[in-house]
Amino acid sequence: KVKNVILAIESSCDETSASICVDGKVMNNVIATQEIHSKYGGVVPELASRAHQQAIGPVVKEAMATANVTMSDLDAIAFTQGPGLLGALLVGGAFAKSMALALNIPLIGVHHMKAHILAHFIEEPKPKFPFLCLTVSGGHTQIVRVDDYLDMAILGQTTDDAVGEAFDKCAKLMGLPYPGGPLIDKLAKEGNENKFTFNETLMPGLDYSFSGIKTGFMNFLNKEKMKDPDFVEKNKKDLCASIQRHLIDMLLSKLELAARQERVNQVAIAGGVSANSGLRTKLEQLSKPNGWEVFIPRFEYCTDNAGMIGMTAHYQQLAGDTVPLTASPMPRMKF
Ligand code: KG4
Ligand code: ZN
Repeated sequence: KVKNVILAIESSCDETSASICVDGKVMNNVIATQEIHSKYGGVVPELASRAHQQAIGPVVKEAMATANVTMSDLDAIAFTQGPGLLGALLVGGAFAKSMALALNIPLIGVHHMKAHILAHFIEEPKPKFPFLCLTVSGGHTQIVRVDDYLDMAILGQTTDDAVGEAFDKCAKLMGLPYPGGPLIDKLAKEGNENKFTFNETLMPGLDYSFSGIKTGFMNFLNKEKMKDPDFVEKNKKDLCASIQRHLIDMLLSKLELAARQERVNQVAIAGGVSANSGLRTKLEQLSKPNGWEVFIPRFEYCTDNAGMIGMTAHYQQLAGDTVPLTASPMPRMKF
C-alpha cells in the first residue's frame, strides 16, 4: 500500500467535524456547526453532546465519501482528546475508538490547542521554526513558542477569561446576540475606536487578564445609561470600535514583547478570534517596524475543524505517538 490515510474527528465544543488526511495532506474538512446554542447566548454542554451524537455519523460518512475513501483504506483514526467539553469529547472519542477497534488500526489522541497551531501547515505559506503563535478563541488565549511540529511551549496565557469570551460578553452587554465577536467586528468598521476608554487590568510579563476590561466596560455602560437610557443604541458603533481596539491592543502588546524577548520574527495567529479584521490589520501594521513575517490561516482553518486534527495526527503518527483503546477524554488536557 502506497498511501497513508488518516480519518480525523473533532468534537471538543460546538462543531462536529471530520477530515481525511492522506500522506500529510488534508483532503477535505466537513463541518457541521451547531446552531442550537445561539438562542441561549452561549454553548450549552448537554445540547452540544446531543448534537454531536446526531451529526457525527453523517459527517464522517461525508468526509470519507468526498475523499473517495472506504473503510479498508484507513490506516489510523485521530480524534480530539482534549481540552474541551467532557460530553462533547466523549462522543468523538467513543466513535473513533469503535472504528479503530473494528478496523484494528492505531488510534491517535490529539491536543486541540496544538492542532490550532499546526493548522498553519495545512496550506501555504507555512511558517518556519521557530515561530510564535497567538492562539485566540472562545476558550483560550495563549502565546506559544513553536520549535518543531511537536515541540512547543506556552510563554503566556490568560489567567481568567479568553479574549473571545470577552468579545462575546461585551457584545451581550450591548444587547447583541451570541456569538457577538463577529458582530462587534462588523459594527466597529464604522465606529471611532478612540471615542471611549475603559479600565483594564494589566498583567505582568506575558500573561493576560480579560475579566477586568469586561467589568470596566460594564461599569462604563451602567454609568452612561444612568444619564441617558439610550446611550448604547446611540453609540453602538463607537462602543464596538473602542472595545475592540482595547482588546486588540492588549493582545498585540504582549505579542510584541514576546517576539522581542524570544528574538523570533515569524509570527502567527490562530483560533476563531484571528478572523477579526481589526486584529489582522493591526498585526500587518506591526509587522513592518518589527520585521515580522505574519501568518494567518484561511478562516475555515482558524475556527474549530478536523483538518487541523488530521494535520497534527500526521506528525504524531510519524513520531509513533498513539493511544490505547482505554484512552479517556481529557477536558483539561495538559499542553
Ligand atoms: O476557535 P473558535 O471557533 O471556537 C473555540 O472557542 O474554540 O472561536 C470562537 C470565538 C467566539 O468567541 C467568537 O465570538 C470569536 O471566536 N470570533 C470573533 C470573530 N469571529 C469569531 N471575535 C472577534 N471578531 C471576529 N471577527
Ligand atoms: Zn478551538
